[in-house]
Amino acid sequence: MKLSQDLLNNIIKITTKSAVACYPHIGKNEKILADKASTDVMRRELNNLNINGEVVIGEGELDEAPMLYIGEKLGSGRGPDIDIAVDPVEGTNFVAKNLPGSMSVIAVSEKGNLLNAPETYMEKIVTGDHVPHQAIDLDFSVEKNIQNYSDVTGKKIQEITVCILNRNRHKEIISELNRLNVNIKLIEDGDVSGALLVSDKKYNVDIFMGIGGGPEGVIAAAALKTLSCKFQGRFLFQSENDIIRAKKMGIVNLNKKYEVNEIVKGESIFCATGITTCDFMNGIIKKNDKYHTETIFTHNNSNLELVKKEISIT
Ligand code: FBP
Repeated sequence: MKLSQDLLNNIIKITTKSAVACYPHIGKNEKILADKASTDVMRRELNNLNINGEVVIGEGELDEAPMLYIGEKLGSGRGPDIDIAVDPVEGTNFVAKNLPGSMSVIAVSEKGNLLNAPETYMEKIVTGDHVPHQAIDLDFSVEKNIQNYSDVTGKKIQEITVCILNRNRHKEIISELNRLNVNIKLIEDGDVSGALLVSDKKYNVDIFMGIGGGPEGVIAAAALKTLSCKFQGRFLFQSENDIIRAKKMGIVNLNKKYEVNEIVKGESIFCATGITTCDFMNGIIKKNDKYHTETIFTHNNSNLELVKKEISIT
């Protein structure tokens, strides 16, 4: 195994600590402070590991530091060469408003195996492992994707549930889904979670679609690949500057539809610790100076696993 159990255990400890660092900021309406608290701890803890790590998915670039920036080197420099994708707080608004759905996330691959993605939007379409590759495609109309899903799964159209971010840019997709009489799960933020909801029938989401963050797309793909889910993503560049950055990162075909195997190659680790309660795990509970946390993870061919921890912060 190339990404060791030891590395997985360390990453779980780190998202646990970075989530707990955010705890005092829950419901304080200060999303920047919340993000900074988690980021500082995540950086400190990653730097304490014996790894030769580099941030390939982060929060901005060097000139936008102090966030963990793309290209930042992490770790002692001794140990495995790894690419790291970080989202210290996924769902900063949820933390600020004390709403369900926020988590602290890291994904890891061996060096060179995670797509270097610019900070731009991405069109995404995601389904579970039971759906054949050709059935769902970003280039199909909403109606065709829904009809195909119905045909391959035998599920009636009115019983299909689509998860999508509540954004003006999705107005047309949403009215088309309404016209087709599809169930919609409209989320306010957090499309890493939104995408992961297709991974198990118990979450009752058949398809995730729409435009969200590119970095969040790559991070979700790290888990979705391990879970054998289908994911297609295509970057949307909004400015000339976006395009220059993308080209610098080696993106040649700007309209390329990326399949999950092209976003994440080889093995990967994905860890997310709940800050506030999510569909997958409970948020942080503080009892007598101890923090009770829950983390979901995937590692190689594992399912979405859950681990509970009790930690104190000194
Ligand atoms: P933050 O936690 O960084 O605020 O991101 C939340 C989020 O909802 C992501 O999950 C999603 O990919 C992105 O914002 C969507 O961006 P926008 O709010 O600009 O539509």
